Amino acid sequence: MTDIKPIIDPTKPKVYIETYGCQMNVNDSEVILSILQNAGYVLTEDMDQANLILANTCSIRDNAEQRIWGRIDQFKLQKKKRDNVLIGIVGCMAERLKDRLLDGHDVDIVAGPDSYRSLPGLIAAVRPDSPQINVMLSHEETYADISPVRMDKNGISAFISIMRGCNNVCSYCVVPYTRGAERSRDPQTILNEAQQLFENGYKEITLLGQNVDSYLWKDAQTPDKDVNFAQLLEMVAKIDPDLRVRFSTSHPKDISDEVIYTMAMYPNICKHIHLPVQSGSSVMLEKMRRKYDREWYLERVRKIRSVIPDCGITTDVIAGFCGETLQDHQDTLSLMEEVVFDSAFMFAYSERPGTLASRKYPDDIPYQEKTRRLNEIIALQGRMSLKSNEKEIGKEFRVLVEGPSKKNPDELCGRASNNKMCVFPSLGEKPGDYTHVKVESVTSATLICSNLG
Ligand code: SAH
Ligand code: SF4
Ligand code: F3S
Repeated sequence: MTDIKPIIDPTKPKVYIETYGCQMNVNDSEVILSILQNAGYVLTEDMDQANLILANTCSIRDNAEQRIWGRIDQFKLQKKKRDNVLIGIVGCMAERLKDRLLDGHDVDIVAGPDSYRSLPGLIAAVRPDSPQINVMLSHEETYADISPVRMDKNGISAFISIMRGCNNVCSYCVVPYTRGAERSRDPQTILNEAQQLFENGYKEITLLGQNVDSYLWKDAQTPDKDVNFAQLLEMVAKIDPDLRVRFSTSHPKDISDEVIYTMAMYPNICKHIHLPVQSGSSVMLEKMRRKYDREWYLERVRKIRSVIPDCGITTDVIAGFCGETLQDHQDTLSLMEEVVFDSAFMFAYSERPGTLASRKYPDDIPYQEKTRRLNEIIALQGRMSLKSNEKEIGKEFRVLVEGPSKKNPDELCGRASNNKMCVFPSLGEKPGDYTHVKVESVTSATLICSNLG
């Protein structure tokens, strides 16, 4: 074997990374880059220059996977043009499809979310007829000791994964299969990472987990020193009042009063909760195995608003889950009208092979009807977002300046604590500065503000 040269030039090989899916994947790509940099790789943003093309993939819905198949075809063209290039598929789709990704697709490396430490070894072992795969899931891996290499441009806002995997088995969801069992990361390593980011000029961190409320660090030596999510949140908030803290995702069955009160106590914990409801019908929620019902969800919203009246609440909604009746769909619409979410991610149900729903319930809402319901949900949310924004007119917010507004580069943009995007004239602020703004007018997506400085 050794006479066949490794495919990648060993002097400063270049890696190109595309990231799909959720914020966890964005953070995982930063972990991957850290591991590869330690092995001598440098990042390139130009695929034509890359020796290693990586796609960090998502399996959450079929269309997410279809997009990636399209990209793999593009990557293959690179291989036709040049001979020192490898293609690696990592992340959730790698975990779900395993060696099926290798069949006739010119993929050289397949690595699941818990096997990134093995990437340098896998890459080195690839030979023309010998692709490499590692899709072992772990009960321990949290990459706690790895400092992610940030790939964002602005150096203001960063993700920190506080846990991995998921122990819920929502019947529609592929994540427990692609990311394995839930495990929490050592809080000290989280604090060190946040502290380091703050010292490097970052002003906002988002603590990430599929279900942050079930974060629990158990210390074998000192069992009385367990750390839950509310405690972790407080520890991070105490790093510095100028460091904003966000988190995602909260699960309606688990979000505790302790977390809500902790948020209320610290001005630098942003007043925003992403609380995916999925459906407004208790019948659907039961079938989805969400372990709460409509009333429970509405009670959690009331609790949040009674403790933090100005809290932003956003959600995820699935249209056309198995057996969803018109009444169930109406229940989703009426819940959305009752809560008035600030914004929402809305999806048509996509059956995922291997999930409980795919084994137990027929995917019986026709495509056109799913789309019709989804469009109704999207249109309603547009009106609700506008309504939610209109009530901010005249209010003042402290915003963290992100940079020039995308639509009008003469103006700046930044988010208020409640996560709403504000656009305002510049008084010479730089990205990472705080300023105060007053809301003058709104669209369904943006607060248009004057800058009070
Ligand atoms: N852990 C988070 C969300 C993970 S996935 C939570 O539990 O809320 C993000 C969103 O994708 C989910 O909230 C859900 O709305 C959507 N989703 C997940 N599986 C889906 C499927 N099979 N079809 C359509 N949407 C899905
Ligand atoms: Fe999927 Fe449910 Fe886990 Fe969220 S909580 S990742 S929807 S199984
Ligand atoms: Fe997608 Fe995996 Fe995230 S399936 S949504 S990348 S956890």
